[in-house]
Amino acid sequence: MNDVTRASASDFAFPKFKTQFTEFIGIADDGHLWVDGCDCAELARTYDTPLYVISENQFRLNYRRFRGAFAAHYPNVQILFANKSNRGLAYRHIMNQEGAGGDCFGINELYVALMAGTDPATLVLNGSNKEAEEIATAVANGVCINIDAMDEVERIAAEVQRQGRPARVGIRAKLELKPLENRFGVVMHGPGSLAEQARNHKWGMTLPQSVELVKRVQKTDGLEAVELHYHLSRMSNVPDDFAVMAREMVQWSADIRDATGWEPPYLDIGGGWAFGRPEKTGPFGEDDADAPAFEDYAKAVCEAVIEECETRGLALPGLKIEPGWSISGSSGVALGRVGAVKEWPGFKKWINVDLSGNHIPPPWYHHIVAVEKADQPAVETVDIVGPLCSSDELGEHRELPALERGDLIALLDTGGYTEVKAANHNGQLRPATVLVTGADAFVTTERERLRDIVGRFRVPPHVLAASAARA
Ligand SMILES: Cc1ncc(COP(=O)(O)O)c(C=O)c1O
Repeated sequence: MNDVTRASASDFAFPKFKTQFTEFIGIADDGHLWVDGCDCAELARTYDTPLYVISENQFRLNYRRFRGAFAAHYPNVQILFANKSNRGLAYRHIMNQEGAGGDCFGINELYVALMAGTDPATLVLNGSNKEAEEIATAVANGVCINIDAMDEVERIAAEVQRQGRPARVGIRAKLELKPLENRFGVVMHGPGSLAEQARNHKWGMTLPQSVELVKRVQKTDGLEAVELHYHLSRMSNVPDDFAVMAREMVQWSADIRDATGWEPPYLDIGGGWAFGRPEKTGPFGEDDADAPAFEDYAKAVCEAVIEECETRGLALPGLKIEPGWSISGSSGVALGRVGAVKEWPGFKKWINVDLSGNHIPPPWYHHIVAVEKADQPAVETVDIVGPLCSSDELGEHRELPALERGDLIALLDTGGYTEVKAANHNGQLRPATVLVTGADAFVTTERERLRDIVGRFRVPPHVLAASAARA
């Protein structure tokens, strides 16, 4: 069984579906797509389209399953929800209630987490080019800062001195991942093997640089090094890839200890786990019903850390994990309405919808369901396209029931990295998000309005004057 269909023993009231996509999203007896106790057709009527819909119960359940998977294999685990995957204030509140910490990128993710009342001691600030304001806010609130540049120690130290407060820091590593030198078939940071892609991106400090950074931290009053950090990036759902990463983090810890005497109290292994489902949703449509699950990932990583710590004579560090998509992704769907239906007979049919690439950033594959015809057989192969001036393909060659103007479609697994990446290309307004809890729905992000776009425009006086002169 894969991540999103595995039954979970918990205290949730599970809805009954005749076809289940996740525990809280499925096709009900009326043949419609439902999110928990809400008919998606009704949601579209009430809140209009395009619309993001998130199931509170699914979001919580994913978190609990994730945490449970790691807690089953490791004594000291902290889950830090990657706020970047869904930065909404309501979602941060929910994660706080579940006991999750958070990974923050940039001042605004940090600000939202603090605004929601997240315990700052459970947050980390990541980023390759941190602004002075981020560092100042992190220091003021006691948030751990993961250092990702040689001059960052001095920048943090200056802030520590200015505020007269100590700071906790980590080091973001640039692992070599040599065992993955010939691991091909994943694409996130350009072509090449997984090791090559990890090498080519901007993140992290080499081992000699990390040693040097730890020495500088040791010499600086008010700074305490508390973790070694790495994030593999959403490239894989192969547990062994993550085990290679975890093992190398322990090896680095031992090398850093030998050079400095500092043993990282925590390993922060980032996020990046990519789930799959039978409809082939997942990293580039590769997954299927046999795809590994959270549990396999957690087991592989924890065993690698425990084994390697024994080999290298290290005390077991605490483990932090920063999952984003694996918690938020399957908790949501995006709804769109069909407009023009166009056909080149014998060649192709295009179903235009009001959802677009502005709302569903590529390249992820999303399973598409006809909301009110969800249990009808597929009768044709169509391209689902958005209204943008690009080709705006949301789903090529999809087998679906006959769709006509006014029908609704849903893209599954859009609970993460959709609203946060939504754009305004062609002046398109960004959708609202509703949170569904049982039979209730609440707007958690308002639909954007024209004033939100044009309200930021300014016309320089000389340009105004030239227009006036022409009149
Ligand atoms: C440092 C860090 N941690 C965690 C994550 C979350 O990754 P995912 O959503 O793939 O789990 C990211 C994603 O970019 C990241 O950059």
